[in-house]
Amino acid sequence: MQTPVIDTERLILRPLALSDAPAIQRHFDNWNIIRHLAAVVPWPYPADGAETFVRQQLEKVSAGEEIYLWVLVPRGGDGEAIGIIHFRPRADGRKGNRGFWLAEPYWNRGLMTEAITAVNDFAFRTLGLDHFFVCNAVSNAASRRVKRKTGAEFVGFIELAHHGGESKSEKWIVRRESWLRARQIEPD
Ligand SMILES: CC(C)(COP(=O)(O)OP(=O)(O)OC[C@H]1O[C@@H](n2cnc3c(N)ncnc32)[C@H](O)[C@@H]1OP(=O)(O)O)[C@@H](O)C(=O)NCCC(=O)NCCS
Repeated sequence: MQTPVIDTERLILRPLALSDAPAIQRHFDNWNIIRHLAAVVPWPYPADGAETFVRQQLEKVSAGEEIYLWVLVPRGGDGEAIGIIHFRPRADGRKGNRGFWLAEPYWNRGLMTEAITAVNDFAFRTLGLDHFFVCNAVSNAASRRVKRKTGAEFVGFIELAHHGGESKSEKWIVRRESWLRARQIEPD
């Protein structure tokens, strides 16, 4: 299945496109975002970092890998991407199956919680997954809070190098049964 367009109250989640690269470059080239991410992300962020990322991801999708890649776009705006959710539900979940970031001017308005709620509905109701895993650096309170607000249950710690110097990550599981129960939806 291809990445679907999903509408939420304040956002449109639409599939990542090459034309999103300039907006991603502008918002993502920010230490306040990158310091929370795994050390595989290049830093200093190269001038063509976003374009390279988008091309690589779209190639993986064309090659048939099951990756769902949404850009987050505010409703009623100019269509510019302000964040990304990256979901590989059936990949080995050792380091988590999902990643996300949001442009700093938009933080702490509940936007990522709103987007992840919609993506969880997609994961469990459309894809019919049983569970998946997510991770964050131990110091990443905002990411932990989004996870707690969207049904994640703490599993334990894993070793994962982050740009901020941390090597410890929290690992969480998100389960279909508890998600549907919390959403008051009867399992099929
Ligand atoms: C993580 C991130 C996507 C959250 O997006 P967001 O739209 O601001 O998230 P929300 O507004 O839905 O929720 C954030 C919650 O964290 C809380 N929070 C934010 N900073 C916090 C801090 N330093 N300490 C404790 N709680 C904090 C907010 O108060 C909010 O909780 P509340 O709704 O109970 O008040 C955004 O901060 C980001 O892009 N960070 C950098 C990249 C990143 O860390 N990605 C995840 C890697 S695992």
